[in-house]
Amino acid sequence: MELKREIKRLKKELDVTILGHFYQRDDVFECADISGDSLELAKKSLQCGSKNILFCGVGFMGQSVKILDPSRRVFMPKIACCAMAKMIDKDQFEISIKALNDAGIESENIMPITYINSNADIKAEVAKLGGMVCTSSNATIIIQKALESGKKILFIPDRCLGQNLAIKMGKKSAVIGVDEDIASADIICYDGFCSVHQLFTPEDVEFFRDRYEDILVIAHPECDPSVTKLCDFVGSTSQIIKYVKELPLEQKVAVGTEFNLVKRLREKNTYVLSSTKPECPTMNETTLQDLYDVLVALKEGKPYNEIVLDDDTMKWAKIALERMLELS
Ligand code: 13P
Ligand code: SF4
Repeated sequence: MELKREIKRLKKELDVTILGHFYQRDDVFECADISGDSLELAKKSLQCGSKNILFCGVGFMGQSVKILDPSRRVFMPKIACCAMAKMIDKDQFEISIKALNDAGIESENIMPITYINSNADIKAEVAKLGGMVCTSSNATIIIQKALESGKKILFIPDRCLGQNLAIKMGKKSAVIGVDEDIASADIICYDGFCSVHQLFTPEDVEFFRDRYEDILVIAHPECDPSVTKLCDFVGSTSQIIKYVKELPLEQKVAVGTEFNLVKRLREKNTYVLSSTKPECPTMNETTLQDLYDVLVALKEGKPYNEIVLDDDTMKWAKIALERMLELS
């Protein structure tokens, strides 16, 4: 049995649209009707007409699709959870707010911003305190707006994205539990990180610069600032794709982001900015067999891996996402 053909047949029969993030394995990615980065997938999902969505990515992305349009049924071939999203829960969020309070910042002077790489309950808590979501594509505009409120930004859960934004915008950042003086910072970061993007080092940048004269070095803002400050371009997944596609083919580039995306970028002169293979383990969990199995289960009336969230979480998390969409 040819799995891809069967998946195509079943999705048509069952009114299913398949969404796939750029980090998915090639064979899974090729089955996607709609592909994109986290922001694009959240937006494009609203435009597709299907009752059922099969989301190939990680849990928080599938949740975002469900939250934005609760009338859809959203299934995932694997409920794979982003390692960074797992780094903060409601208790840790509360402890972070308390750390700011202890530093003399009143709760009404805190604007929490959560990276979309967080679970729905965290997005809901952020919304209750007047905050919103951002992605790596729209983070600058969201932080700009948040700073206009005159409040201190509590940025969760990605320390690196928060620090990179502060550097880009000429603002001061500090990390809870690491830096002593958090009260004087404009952007106060939670100490979470992406285990994949932590793999890239300043030595990797030096290696490629020494080896290839005139090479361009590019990285995702989840990389540490010690790496991004050495790069020619820092951008979200879609921004990296656009930047590289517009370069002449003879221009060599080394790219610091997930392996599946980099290897698909273009045919020649493109290097992964690492001596290791920076694959996202959870994104890579999803296989063609998983897609097929979940579609068969749906056809047989025994669906599993459906995204289900309680009404209160959905209501508040939607507010956090919609505040972002209004601005981007
Ligand atoms: P994008 O928002 O660029 O799709 O990134 C999501 C992600 O998980 C990056 O590691
Ligand atoms: Fe999460 Fe990192 Fe994987 Fe992105 S690459 S989904 S941030 S673990």
